[in-house]
Amino acid sequence: MASLTITEASIPDLSGKTAIVTGGSSGIGLGAVQVLLDHGARVFILDISPPPADVLFPHSSYIHTDISSWSALVSAFAAITQTHGCAVDIAIANAGVGEFDENSYLAQCFNPAPDDASAWAALGQSDPWAYKQIEVNLKGTLNFVMLATRVMKTQKSGGSIVLTASTTAYFPETSIPIYSATKGALANLIRALHPTLPLHNIAISGVAPSAADTAMLPPEVPKALVQLGLPVSTGRHVGLALVYSATATQSERVEDYGKDKPVSEDYRERWNGRIIHTIGDEFWEVEQKLVETRALWWGKGNLDLTMKQRIITDPRPI
Ligand SMILES: NC(=O)c1ccc[n+]([C@@H]2O[C@H](COP(=O)([O-])OP(=O)(O)OC[C@H]3O[C@@H](n4cnc5c(N)ncnc54)[C@H](O)[C@@H]3O)[C@@H](O)[C@H]2O)c1
Repeated sequence: MASLTITEASIPDLSGKTAIVTGGSSGIGLGAVQVLLDHGARVFILDISPPPADVLFPHSSYIHTDISSWSALVSAFAAITQTHGCAVDIAIANAGVGEFDENSYLAQCFNPAPDDASAWAALGQSDPWAYKQIEVNLKGTLNFVMLATRVMKTQKSGGSIVLTASTTAYFPETSIPIYSATKGALANLIRALHPTLPLHNIAISGVAPSAADTAMLPPEVPKALVQLGLPVSTGRHVGLALVYSATATQSERVEDYGKDKPVSEDYRERWNGRIIHTIGDEFWEVEQKLVETRALWWGKGNLDLTMKQRIITDPRPI
């Protein structure tokens, strides 16, 4: 785990660059929008609610978009690239929904099963769960990443995609199992895509926030944490990590994959495959250490076997 020093000065001038931020109307996404605007980027906010009026003028636009709707996402990308004629240099998939429901998944798990055939038949008549977290946090993000990749692949300058995951990707919380599952899936999506996207000049990385004082948390939660002396981040702080991830570079890959050859000493590429944990006012990159300690938790022999298998199954044309 490496501590990172990230300040506003770490972000380059983004004049001439275009960024899309989902969930950019509030909290962490709004923090990222403000950082992007402060550094000169043109920003499109895709959200189901409009942003505060003061961020809209003159360099940002709001496109009402429910990211769980494929057609809404396609319309938004079409508007950005065709109507506005913009490239997509930075795509931040940040919109997400929490899991604060009294009729919780866990409570449903422990509802006694029906005890006769007709009760089973009645249960089959209605799906009790819409799994909103899967629709928004996972499906919406997968579709957003696909569309961003399709646009960036056509651009000579490529682009950077950053996902807002969560600490629950590493420390799942028993009170929010579906949310934790979706955020774990986003961390694994980054791990699965980071070896391939750079072949198309595209990078993918993530940010895993611990508690941040935003509308997502019931207000008593950050208050209670602060009273206990526990760290709480601001939306702007986490937003800074998102924009850093979209603009930083690295001198080594987080991990060589399959047929990858070791990189040269003067290697430089976009920040890729990394996830920054934000906690209080700190930033920590966590994926590198996870990779470095694989032999400890996966087993040295199993690691060797898995790496050999990956060489055989690596589909990339390298
Ligand atoms: N606040 C925290 O403690 C915390 C911790 C870890 C991860 N996160 C993640 O950070 C991200 C941002 O959340 P936040 O804390 O800023 O909360 P927030 O509620 O302040 O912001 C979420 C934004 O997403 C938008 N949104 C929700 N559903 C949407 C949809 N279907 N389509 C488009 N936009 C939608 C909301 O309108 C809102 O503007 C989320 O992915 C969340 O899971 C938050």
